[in-house]
Amino acid sequence: MPNQKLIAGNWKMNGLTGDCLALTDDLLRVNDTGLFEKTRVLVCPPFTALNLVAERLSQNHLLLGAQDCHAAQSGAHTGCVSAEMVRDTGCTYVILGHSERRNGGETSAEVKEKVSAALRAGLTPILCVGEQETDRDNNQHIDVVSEQIDSSLPDDITADKFVLAYEPVWAIGTGRTASTDDIIEMHEAIRKNLNNRFGSEGDYVAVLYGGSVKPANAYEILWLENVDGVLVGGASLNAEDFIKIAEAGVAEE
Ligand code: PGA
Repeated sequence: MPNQKLIAGNWKMNGLTGDCLALTDDLLRVNDTGLFEKTRVLVCPPFTALNLVAERLSQNHLLLGAQDCHAAQSGAHTGCVSAEMVRDTGCTYVILGHSERRNGGETSAEVKEKVSAALRAGLTPILCVGEQETDRDNNQHIDVVSEQIDSSLPDDITADKFVLAYEPVWAIGTGRTASTDDIIEMHEAIRKNLNNRFGSEGDYVAVLYGGSVKPANAYEILWLENVDGVLVGGASLNAEDFIKIAEAGVAEE
């Protein structure tokens, strides 16, 4: 088990720079409580705000990530942002393969190249996987997620270099959280997959749950077997809610 929970906020395409800075400042108000040292807390603002948010974060332990990157290092890719550019802003993490991008046509093969690019640039990729509702109805959810993991991870990756996020697509932004039984079942299957590939090192890959996480359900989810953190969308846009979720991830002494 990774020894601290990872609480990641995916701000998606929300907030002009001023809004992102205000949200960052609201989060930093609890900096003195040591919250960001007791658990790992990560924010992933839009690209446009990364540089300025990074400046705010330079003196504390709040972590910074991006929401995507291109596979190539540089070149004729109009409108794209390379992993090196993401790293250059001060980010240490990047979310890859989010279902909102997979729904837009991104394939696991493309995600795999992006994961390699993130590693090349010294970023920790957060690889997102998750089944559609029909997969679950057909009892294929575990196979679908296993296949996504296998086809999105580069052959040479090691267990210490990435984070996985299980996000059932039907639970994202819908207010419908997966049941604790569903989460336990899937996270156990994911851990088995990781152990098959990496042996006992697979125990140390942080596996996050995402999909309608909020203050009211965060504690229960965060302390389930094989859950090492959460990836939070909507509730991460409200500083008070996100702080409550982060507090739920602090281990009791
Ligand atoms: P949600 O989004 O918390 O709003 O459901 C989660 C995500 O997309 O990462």
